[in-house]
Amino acid sequence: MSAVDNLRSEIEKLRKEKNAVILAHYYQRGELQDVADFVGDSLALAQWAQKTEADIIVMCGVHFMGETAKILCPEKKVLVPDAAAGCSLADSCPADDFARFVAAHPGYTVVSYVNTSAAVKACTDIVVTSTNARKIIETLPPEEKIIFGPDRNLGSYISAVTGREMLLWDGACHVHEQFSAEKIRQMKAEHPGAVVLAHPECKGAVVDVSDVVGSTAALLKYAVAHPGQREFIVATENGILHEMRKQCPAQVFIPAPVEDAAAGCSECNFMRLNTMEKLYRCLKDESPEIQVDPEVSRKAVRCIRRMLDISARYKL
Ligand code: 13P
Ligand code: SF4
Repeated sequence: MSAVDNLRSEIEKLRKEKNAVILAHYYQRGELQDVADFVGDSLALAQWAQKTEADIIVMCGVHFMGETAKILCPEKKVLVPDAAAGCSLADSCPADDFARFVAAHPGYTVVSYVNTSAAVKACTDIVVTSTNARKIIETLPPEEKIIFGPDRNLGSYISAVTGREMLLWDGACHVHEQFSAEKIRQMKAEHPGAVVLAHPECKGAVVDVSDVVGSTAALLKYAVAHPGQREFIVATENGILHEMRKQCPAQVFIPAPVEDAAAGCSECNFMRLNTMEKLYRCLKDESPEIQVDPEVSRKAVRCIRRMLDISARYKL
């Protein structure tokens, strides 16, 4: 038995013994996606956390995903394999600065991307993910003034497709910012039949050269729905290719090129901190555990529930 197989069987034993559920984001290492009970995008992970009857939720993802699960299920134990798995986008929006920005703009509805800390959510009116951001903005009355944070790229994209002016926070994800529109154009010339799939956290120039823009779940769904399409160039974190290749074995998925391959790649270093070994240890020791201050949690839960209610209404 290989080391990974060994860990997998130990993880499976512990999961049963402890009535735990393992949730994994599409950006996780392939072996973690394979051992998880459920793999999904940020919205699906929150929806799954909300409905699970397990006593322990293990969130194979990054810290804000664990926090969201803990805020929705304060009575459950929420574990993350590596407590250092943060998010550059969430870090680009310190809670004190955001609270000052919100206070300086009274009368605005505050819409925050789920990639934020619990403290930012505590001063937010509605949370969105890349799956539901457009729909949620469209449900707001046209006269409502909107602050959108922290992702400037997602905010600009949603503003363009909805025609809504929004006050944007100037944050970004270091992984999605790296894709190069120029190199994607060159790659398209080399693969003339390929469809370019891009996440809306990418820069506007990358979105402009793409054929399909959507959340990780939406990009996967597009590939599955187009079995006749042979090649795809994928401008989002590399981990999604695992599920794309699994669900569409006859299709070809090529990671989109980044500006400076020597300086970085399309892998999120935070997401990659989680490993099978750390998942095993975290289940065994029931640590690291996510804790959220109860007062912050009480305030933050409203905007997350509002998002989940609207998503349920529109079957998102
Ligand atoms: P989605 O899961 O909403 O596609 O977002 C991607 C992401 O960047 C998560 O960190
Ligand atoms: Fe955050 Fe970007 Fe990593 Fe997603 S890919 S967790 S947005 S740093």
